[in-house]
Amino acid sequence: MNRLLISTGGGDCPGLNAVIRAIVHRASQEKDWEILGSIQAFNGVLWEPSEIVVLDNNKVKGIHFQGGTIIETTNKGGPFGWPVKNKDGSYTEVDRSDEMIRKLQYMGIDGVINIGGDGSQRISQLLWEKGLNIIGVPKTIDNDLSSTDSTFGFQTAVQIATESVDKLVTTAASHNRVFVMEVMGRDAGWIALNAAVAGGAEVALIPENPYDIQKVKAALEKRFHHDRGFAVVVISEGAKQQGGSVATIKTEEVGYHNKRLGGAARKLIEELKAAGFKQDMRETVLGHLQRGGVPIAYDRVLSAQFGVKAFEMALEGDYGKMVSYQHPDFISVPLKEAIAKPNLVDEKNQLVKTALGLGICLGN
Ligand code: F6P
Repeated sequence: MNRLLISTGGGDCPGLNAVIRAIVHRASQEKDWEILGSIQAFNGVLWEPSEIVVLDNNKVKGIHFQGGTIIETTNKGGPFGWPVKNKDGSYTEVDRSDEMIRKLQYMGIDGVINIGGDGSQRISQLLWEKGLNIIGVPKTIDNDLSSTDSTFGFQTAVQIATESVDKLVTTAASHNRVFVMEVMGRDAGWIALNAAVAGGAEVALIPENPYDIQKVKAALEKRFHHDRGFAVVVISEGAKQQGGSVATIKTEEVGYHNKRLGGAARKLIEELKAAGFKQDMRETVLGHLQRGGVPIAYDRVLSAQFGVKAFEMALEGDYGKMVSYQHPDFISVPLKEAIAKPNLVDEKNQLVKTALGLGICLGN
C-alpha cells in the first residue's frame, strides 16, 4: 500500500477542495494508493494525538465547488516554528521538523502533497532537503508564485474584485463620489491591476509602483466638472506613497509571522485630503471576501489539472518539485526554483501597458 498525505497550508483560497478531490479521484484509478489528509496543515501530524483523515471518493464527493478546505488550514506556526508556551506566558518557537518526518515514517507515509503559497512551499523545500518526499501545488489568490503561469484561486479573487468595482461604479456615479477599493495581494499588485482593467477603474495603485499623490489627485480631478463626476480607485493593500510606508495592522496572534496589511484605502483618502482634493470619498475594503465562496469555473479546472498532475508526479516518484502550469502544459519544476523569487508586476508587463493604454492612472 502506498500512502500519500495531503496538507493545505497558509491562507485558504477557492479551489483547494477541487485540488484535493482531483488527487483522490486520480489515485482511486490506481491500485493500492491511500490518500490521507492532515488537519490544519501539518498540525494534524504534529498534534498529540495526531489528526489525520482518510480521503476517499466518498469523502470528496461534490467538494469541487466548495470554498475553503475540508481539511482546514493555518498560516501560523508549522514544523519549523512550533510555538511553545513558557511559564511567563510568552512563546518560544521550536523546530519540530525532524520529529514530524519521523512521525510520518512511523505512519507509513510515502509522500506528501503540500498545497500552499510561497510560505508553504518554502517549508516544502526545507522538508525535501531533510529527505521527505514532497510535492508542492501553487495556491494563492495573490498570484505571487513564480515558475507557474498562474496559481489557483487568483482568478476567483479577480472576479470578486471586478464585480465589486461594478457595484461601486453605480453608487459612485449616483452620489458623485470617489470610491477607493482596497484589495488583497500582499506585495503583488495582480488582483488590483486585473480588477481595475476589467472593472474600468480610473486609478490602480499597486505595491510595485509607489504613487505620487499629486498625480493621483490630478487624475481624479479630471473626472469632475463643477463637482459632478465620479471615479473608482483600486488600491492594493501593499501600495504606498513614494517615500511612504505601507499601512499595517498590529497583531498578537501566536506564531503569526506575516506583516498584517490593511488600511491602504483609508490612508490614500487622508493623503488626498491633505493634498487638497475636495470631492467626497468613501472606502471599501474587500478583505477576506476575496478568498471566500465558490471558485469560478476557471479555477476549478486549473485546480483539477494541478491535482491530477500532482498525483501523477507522486506515482512517478517525481518529488522535490512543484506542479507548474506553463500553458498549455502542466509540468514539474524544482521547489527551489519556484521559491527563488516572487512573481511581481513588472513595469514591462503587457497588462501594465494595457492599463496605461486604457488611460488608467497608475500613480506615476
Ligand atoms: O496571501 C493571501 C492573503 O489573502 C493576502 O492577500 C493577505 O494579505 C493575507 O493573506 C491575509 O492573511 P490573513 O488571512 O492571515 O488575514
